[in-house]
Amino acid sequence: MHARAVAASTAALLGTAALLFPSPARAGDHGASPLVIAHRGASAYAPENTLAAVDKAAELGIAWVENDVQRTRDGELVVVHDDSLRRTTDAEEVFPDRAPWKVKDFTAAEIARLDAGSWFGPAYAGARVPTLRQFVDRVEHHHQKLLLEIKNPQLYPGIERQTLKLLSNEGWLDAPHLADRLVVQSFSPDSVRTVHELRPGVKTGFLGTPGVADLAAYAAFADQINPSHGSLSLGYVSAVHAFRGPHGRPLEVCTWTVDDAATAQRVAGYGVDGIITNKPDVVRDAVGG
Ligand code: G3P
Ligand code: CA
Repeated sequence: MHARAVAASTAALLGTAALLFPSPARAGDHGASPLVIAHRGASAYAPENTLAAVDKAAELGIAWVENDVQRTRDGELVVVHDDSLRRTTDAEEVFPDRAPWKVKDFTAAEIARLDAGSWFGPAYAGARVPTLRQFVDRVEHHHQKLLLEIKNPQLYPGIERQTLKLLSNEGWLDAPHLADRLVVQSFSPDSVRTVHELRPGVKTGFLGTPGVADLAAYAAFADQINPSHGSLSLGYVSAVHAFRGPHGRPLEVCTWTVDDAATAQRVAGYGVDGIITNKPDVVRDAVGG
């Protein structure tokens, strides 16, 4: 038989098989490698959650960057992981009488004075805690994509609405960004639900590993279920993929924080959709993302 005829009849058979045996709703079935997401920026190589960490991810050719958003005493959204400034800045030296150096107790102007780079290495001395506006502008500048985590939302009433407003003002809620360049996630299901209710077009993620029996409830407001890699199994990833999220697509799984090739290959074998990593080059090399 002519090769083209063989291909045509094979395709017809496969088409028939697909109709007879529809595959479950799995995002991971697309055959592509998982997305590689730079955790707090490329934070193994530059101080976490700084513009330098975004730049480093861009330099490595990494499209997706994760960050953490909190709020200052005077209402500015800033990008920092801990609820205290102590670990990643020189707040203890600059403001010795302000223990325990909580982000929420400092003004934006005070935080802007802090060195958020020297703790990591002298090459980064003078790096600042970025505002969310500065951060998204830098991500945009590099044509990157953002996995934005609302951190400790219980400390910052209304932070979901405020974050969405800033994203909107900065052009991050237009159709191209909503389609493929933004996910908002949190460990707080209430926060994720609030984001979904305020702006249903925004793709959302829940950080954690809900029981399979609870996944249907999460699927009402979260497009992603994003667990620690230690809690993952092939069965769990398949169970998540079997649900459809609020936008009618299979729920996705982005797992964290994976910094070695063997673990990256293990979770890729489970069919995860994304791997969140401090070493995006290592993970990309391991899984071809
Ligand atoms: O995005 C996943 C990861 O960031 C969650 O943990 O503590 O690094 O914010 P954490
Ligand atoms: Ca985070």
